[in-house]
Amino acid sequence: MKPASDRRDEGPFIATKEHRRFVEFANTVRRHRYIGLCHGPAGVGKTLSGRRYANWEKAEALRSAWKTRDQSDTSTQAILARSRTVFYTPTVGSPLRELRDDLHRLIGRVSYCIDEGLDNLTVTPSHDGCGLIELIVIDEAERLSNLALEYIRDLFDRSNIGLILVGMPGIEKRMARYPQFYSRVGFSHGYRPLLGDELSFVLTRHWRKLGVTLDEADFTDAQAVAAIARITGGNFRLLYRLFVQIERILRINEMTAITEEVVDAARSTLLIGAT
Ligand SMILES: Nc1ncnc2c1ncn2[C@@H]1O[C@H](COP(=O)(O)OP(=O)(O)O)[C@@H](O)[C@H]1O
Ligand SMILES: [Mg+2]
Repeated sequence: MKPASDRRDEGPFIATKEHRRFVEFANTVRRHRYIGLCHGPAGVGKTLSGRRYANWEKAEALRSAWKTRDQSDTSTQAILARSRTVFYTPTVGSPLRELRDDLHRLIGRVSYCIDEGLDNLTVTPSHDGCGLIELIVIDEAERLSNLALEYIRDLFDRSNIGLILVGMPGIEKRMARYPQFYSRVGFSHGYRPLLGDELSFVLTRHWRKLGVTLDEADFTDAQAVAAIARITGGNFRLLYRLFVQIERILRINEMTAITEEVVDAARSTLLIGAT
């Protein structure tokens, strides 16, 4: 059995237009110290964008080696000093105490890393309740209880940070029920699925991974692309799941071309509901 970390082998990060829009949104929230809401359907790439923005892969690696910080990586510290962001995912049904302790610990640790890395940089540290952190991104924000929202609002008021809550469409409506919180929301950002040329770009990579070349001038390819676009709606996660099945069908049938029939056969093995 594969180790848990290898569970999802979904390829390298692609800097999509939506990711760039997210970066621009996060920069604005951070610069103006707003509360921002980011919402979009499951599987479009919100979590990955947030983690990427915070350089969270690197931060996690650094944090897991926390006790041996003598060996900590100065380039990671410098990267964190640029992003100055904490990325946090609350657990399901977590009590307020857990949220408070987790955030406190993450803010402390990342601030400390940044502080250590600042020797190499020319930025002026600003100390307040959140140390050197300028932005907190909370993923799966619908998991936050009312009490947790209240706590976060208080943290936001007491410290000079920006805050982004990431969630499913509809999260704005839920927040609108809490005027205290909602009145602090600077803006709301919709994260969209892949569209048009960008979808073709991602598909070309998938095709290549299967050892096939995508030629949009070829009618069969164009039909297959249209079928994939229709089935997945440009949703990253669905694309990956569909391609796992396409690969399987090609292999079983010893085929080398991705046709509309192959795509439909792949689709029939997947449970694709409303996302
Ligand atoms: N920019 C991207 N580049 C490559 N793969 C991506 C990208 N965005 C999303 N994915 C893929 O789609 C999957 C779902 O993305 P995720 O960020 O978890 O979506 P969401 O948080 O919106 O539900 C990821 O596991 C990843 O494999
Ligand atoms: Mg997510």
